[in-house]
Amino acid sequence: MIIISVANQKGGEGKTTTALNLAHGLALENNKVLLIDVDPQANSSGIFLDVNKLKSSITELFLQKEKIANLIHKTKYTGLELLPSNIALAEVELSSLNVEAPYVLRDALSEIKQSYDFAIIDCPPSLSVFTVNALVASNYVIIPLQAEKFSIDGIKGLQNTIESIKRRINPELQILGALITQLKSNTILTKTILPVIQNYFPVFKTSISTGVSIGESHLSQRTILDYNANGKQAIEYLTFVKEVIDGIKK
Ligand SMILES: Nc1ncnc2c1ncn2[C@@H]1O[C@H](COP(=O)(O)OP(=O)(O)O)[C@@H](O)[C@H]1O
Ligand SMILES: [Mg+2]
Repeated sequence: MIIISVANQKGGEGKTTTALNLAHGLALENNKVLLIDVDPQANSSGIFLDVNKLKSSITELFLQKEKIANLIHKTKYTGLELLPSNIALAEVELSSLNVEAPYVLRDALSEIKQSYDFAIIDCPPSLSVFTVNALVASNYVIIPLQAEKFSIDGIKGLQNTIESIKRRINPELQILGALITQLKSNTILTKTILPVIQNYFPVFKTSISTGVSIGESHLSQRTILDYNANGKQAIEYLTFVKEVIDGIKK
């Protein structure tokens, strides 16, 4: 099982949209995929189920009350399963005095590694213990990023976090790349933003342009690959999925 975190400590950068469509895109390529939601806001979980009615979620995993296999749900998409989150996760206090705290997710995933080809982790908009758990468990990290000033302001902090997890805990962690999302202007991107980002991270050749159908797909509780399969953003996400697969093969 290859484990990929979709991370950025800033909200609204396209983590959830990217995690959903990467997970679905990999499933469409005949992989068995587990989508893991570690964001208490539970946006990606909400695409597939009513999170308010969930009796158990990844919260029980972090509280060490339930085994991971008992927390996984099937989804409407063939090959795609979900480990959902809910708001209760926000209440979980993993003590920094507990030496096992960063390893909960990694240890749990090792129990089910035979069952999936990929696990895709949708991270919260913070560098919290949940993002640390995701990065500690992962082989790769993908960083969705808008081509805007405020989006690149936090890029150094994110790079520091990734590098320190790599150095101290998970030397196998590789940055697969930054994915530009919600792209409005190619000129601004290539002239001013891209050179800045490339100082910190490799950047995927594919970027995702902005389009109302992304918001519509979330409202209709579908991925863009399902909601508007022939639309611009779906084609871009499918091209991105191919780039991810090629990046991993290297
Ligand atoms: N390519 C896009 N075009 C238009 N809107 C987008 C696009 N990608 C994401 N969005 C919208 O931007 C908001 C933030 O995206 P989301 O994936 O939830 O980011 P994050 O998980 O990083 O907070 C959402 O309302 C989403 O619908
Ligand atoms: Mg999100």
